[in-house]
Amino acid sequence: MSDQTVLVLCGSLRAGSFNRMLCNSLPDLAPAGMRFTTAPDIGSIPLYDADLQQASGFPEAVSALGDAVRAADAVMIVTPEYNYSVPGVLKNAIDWVSRLPDQPFAGKPVALQSAAIGMLGGARCQYHLRQIMVFLDAIVFTKPEVFVSFAKSKVDEEAGVVSDGPTRDAIAAQLKAFQPFVDRFVAR
Ligand SMILES: Cc1cc2nc3c(=O)[nH]c(=O)nc-3n(C[C@H](O)[C@H](O)[C@H](O)COP(=O)(O)O)c2cc1C
Repeated sequence: MSDQTVLVLCGSLRAGSFNRMLCNSLPDLAPAGMRFTTAPDIGSIPLYDADLQQASGFPEAVSALGDAVRAADAVMIVTPEYNYSVPGVLKNAIDWVSRLPDQPFAGKPVALQSAAIGMLGGARCQYHLRQIMVFLDAIVFTKPEVFVSFAKSKVDEEAGVVSDGPTRDAIAAQLKAFQPFVDRFVAR
C-alpha cells in the first residue's frame, strides 16, 4: 500500500469542537501508510464577494487552502451540521476555493465525517456537502460513513479525542476502506 497524505479540513472554529476532536483522533485510527496534514485556517477568509475577487484577487488564506488541497492525495472534511446543512464558514471557504484556476477539488478523492450533539450525527449536512463536492468534480467516497451522534458522550474532552469504542471502530473502518479508494484515483 502506497503512502498517502490526507488533508483534514474541519468545519468548526470552536475551541472545544467535537469535530476537532474527531480530527485529532484520525492519526491514531488510520492504517499504516496514511498520514494527515491540517488545512490552513478558514476562519480568516472573508465572505465571498466577486467584486472583492475582481478588485484584489484571491485572499492569501484562500490560495493557501487551494495549494493544500492540490498538494494532498485526498481530503477528509470533518464538520458539524448547522441548521440541517453545511456551516457557513466551511461553505464560504469551499466557494472561494471553487473559483481558483485549475479548481483544486477536481479529481480529488474526498471523504466526509461529521459529529453533532443530535441523534443524526450531522447526516443531513454530509449529504449537502456530497452534492457540493459532486459539482466540483471531486470523487466522493461513499461508505462506510461516519456520523458521530450525541457527540458529547463519545469524546474525552480533556484529551480532545474520540473515546467511544464503537465510534473509534467505525472511524478506523472508514479510513481502512478509504486507503485503497484513494490509491485507485490518485495518479502517481
Ligand atoms: C448555528 C447552529 C446550528 C446547529 N444546527 C444543528 C443541526 O442542524 N443539527 C445538529 O445535529 N446539530 C446542530 N447544531 C448543534 C451542533 O451539533 C453542536 O453545536 C456541535 O457541538 C457543533 O460541532 P462542534 O462541537 O464541532 O463545534 C447547531 C449548532 C449551531 C451553533
